[in-house]
Amino acid sequence: MPKINVPIWPEYTEREIMEVRDVLASHTWNRWQGTKVNEFEKKFTVYQDAKYGVAVVNGTVALEIALRALDISPGAEVIIPAYTFISTATAVLQIGCVPVFADINPVTYCIDSGDIERKITDRTKVIIPVHLYGYPCEMDKIMGIAKKHNLYVLEDACQAPGAEWHGRKVGAIGDLGCFSFQASKNITCGEGGMIVTNNEILSQKCFSYHHIGRMPGGKFYEHEVLGTNARLSEFLGGILLAQFSRLEEQTRRREENARYISENLKSIPGITPPAEIEGVTCSAYHLYVFRYEKEKSTSGLSRNELIKAMNDRGVPCGTGYPIPLYKNPLFVKKAFAPLVSYVIDNAYGKKLDYTKAVCPETERICMEAIGLPQNILLGTKKDCNIIIETIKETLS
Ligand SMILES: Cc1ncc(COP(=O)(O)O)c(C=O)c1O
Repeated sequence: MPKINVPIWPEYTEREIMEVRDVLASHTWNRWQGTKVNEFEKKFTVYQDAKYGVAVVNGTVALEIALRALDISPGAEVIIPAYTFISTATAVLQIGCVPVFADINPVTYCIDSGDIERKITDRTKVIIPVHLYGYPCEMDKIMGIAKKHNLYVLEDACQAPGAEWHGRKVGAIGDLGCFSFQASKNITCGEGGMIVTNNEILSQKCFSYHHIGRMPGGKFYEHEVLGTNARLSEFLGGILLAQFSRLEEQTRRREENARYISENLKSIPGITPPAEIEGVTCSAYHLYVFRYEKEKSTSGLSRNELIKAMNDRGVPCGTGYPIPLYKNPLFVKKAFAPLVSYVIDNAYGKKLDYTKAVCPETERICMEAIGLPQNILLGTKKDCNIIIETIKETLS
């Protein structure tokens, strides 16, 4: 079989070089005097169907600032999926709140609306749906639940630039949304992030928190709230402008190749390609994740054996998140650091014990997922065929 060509990621063109040179030559390398971060903020915000956007240093900090802007009292519960990146949970802890884990929908791998409802208590204040692997959550149901129970919705869209639910881009469907531009992401500057919203007051709060408490248009040495410095540099703003110019076309290419691969994998016993449910008008495919059930395969191969066989033939892939978040030592040992432990112990009024958490669908997908990185979807049909044939031959 011919060798697969996996497009290098992150990639850059002359445009990135030109943008960085531009910033160097401008001698304004910081955002509050420059133009690049501002320009990117505006473009990306409009692209995500939002009114306001604040660029920050990464997705983790974006989530922390967005949660802070909601002014939630310490000890409140925040419902998050058990199957996501750790930052979704740590952001909750950083503001002295309590992550409550909901299970995932076994078809989409995103948070399960039914389980959100089951996990709501009178302490719940926020739901954080994560558009996992670039796949949009069922936002109609989630917004309905939030409205019914008077909860905020913070979308963790760190993996989902360009993703759409019923023709509307994710991020500002809820109250706030966060993106990551870390090196593996579909649009990247190495490390970066963004908060979007349609709420002007929330956007001003986020701006202020990321700008060490300065208000928009305020005086330089006047700090009105407890903020931090999370400003993105102009170099990164320039790189993001260049990357952004390719995002739409690349999103289309990823979708087209993902559909082609799915069409060819769906008849293989034991393999379930990513779902295509009603309402998802664009998936960002940050990872192409399929489920592999050994007991349904005629090959007898374990998941790790299939991954190894694919890796040996040059197809990069891995397991996705190997354990539910609540099985991390952070939660098992409640290693929350003195300040957060003190705040939660005093504000929650209930004993926290994550050792009893069980989310069966999350536990199952942790054992069955196989994920291919997004850049593999930027290859040619020939490359897609190599992926398909590799899997078919390995499992035959
Ligand atoms: C779902 C999710 N949330 C949050 C983050 C945090 O983003 P960053 O790595 O930019 O801090 C990531 C990044 O990997 C992510 O995938």
